[in-house]
Amino acid sequence: MRKIAFVNIKGGVGKTTGIFNVAGVLAKKGYKVLCIDLDRQCNLTNTMLANSESDYNPKCDKNIMDVFTGGSGFGETVKRNYIVDIGKRKPAYFNIDVIPGSKELKRNEYVRKSYIGIKDKLNKFAKDEGYDFILCDLPANSEIINEICFGDICDEIISPFSTDVYSVEGYEELMDVVNIAREKNEVKMLGIYLSKYDKRVGLDNFIKEELESFGQLFIKEIQIPAKTDIRETITMGKPISFYKNQSSTREAYERLTDEILKR
Ligand SMILES: Nc1ncnc2c1ncn2[C@@H]1O[C@H](COP(=O)(O)OP(=O)(O)OP(=O)(O)O)[C@@H](O)[C@H]1O
Ligand SMILES: [Mg+2]
Repeated sequence: MRKIAFVNIKGGVGKTTGIFNVAGVLAKKGYKVLCIDLDRQCNLTNTMLANSESDYNPKCDKNIMDVFTGGSGFGETVKRNYIVDIGKRKPAYFNIDVIPGSKELKRNEYVRKSYIGIKDKLNKFAKDEGYDFILCDLPANSEIINEICFGDICDEIISPFSTDVYSVEGYEELMDVVNIAREKNEVKMLGIYLSKYDKRVGLDNFIKEELESFGQLFIKEIQIPAKTDIRETITMGKPISFYKNQSSTREAYERLTDEILKR
């Protein structure tokens, strides 16, 4: 089983979109995926559990905070993601499960004080359920959530970058997060990829060249094109692999997933 966090200290770079679409490609390939939403915005939860078949009610259902405090186990908290596949009418379950996020995650001190440790419980749950992948969505920068994620959940990091200079400037801060994580655990940095790339734009090409100076760490062969169909996937609650047969973004997410499988 692989446990990968999508990390960037910057907001809005495509972390949630990345998990959603990589999970979709993995599910199409037949892998069983558990997505854990550690972001207080709960964007991944709301997208993954958008279909009413998922039977998720944020007002009364358990979420990650209940797991953190010991109020609920993973088994009682997990929800199934239902997607309508291309050419199909009815939503179906395709091996993606979700541990919903919580607004309470923003209360750093509360999280720190009430967190009981989940490493062993998660490992047992994941083994019993037969997950091949755990994918974690993180907020842009929260010390306590990073600590929990890299101490008890994930041991690999992948980092989406958007094409702006702040993204490149934030690289050192990102590596600080990676290095702090490494002090706690064997955490492997899988790589950095461009998550909204427009090859016609000069700045995008400039940023790509800048990132090439990071060497092997930069997945330079694969860029996710900046296109509206990716934004539609979020609105429709369907990963691109279940939304469109022919699309450069689908192909890019398939290639990115293959690269993750190789690294
Ligand atoms: N390839 C793409 N092409 C066009 N738009 C994209 C693409 N990838 C992501 N976006 C859009 O960029 C915005 C930010 O993406 P997303 O929410 O995934 O970022 P994030 O890093 O998770 O943000 P946050 O830090 O707020 O959680 C969204 O509106 C999303 O639809
Ligand atoms: Mg997000």
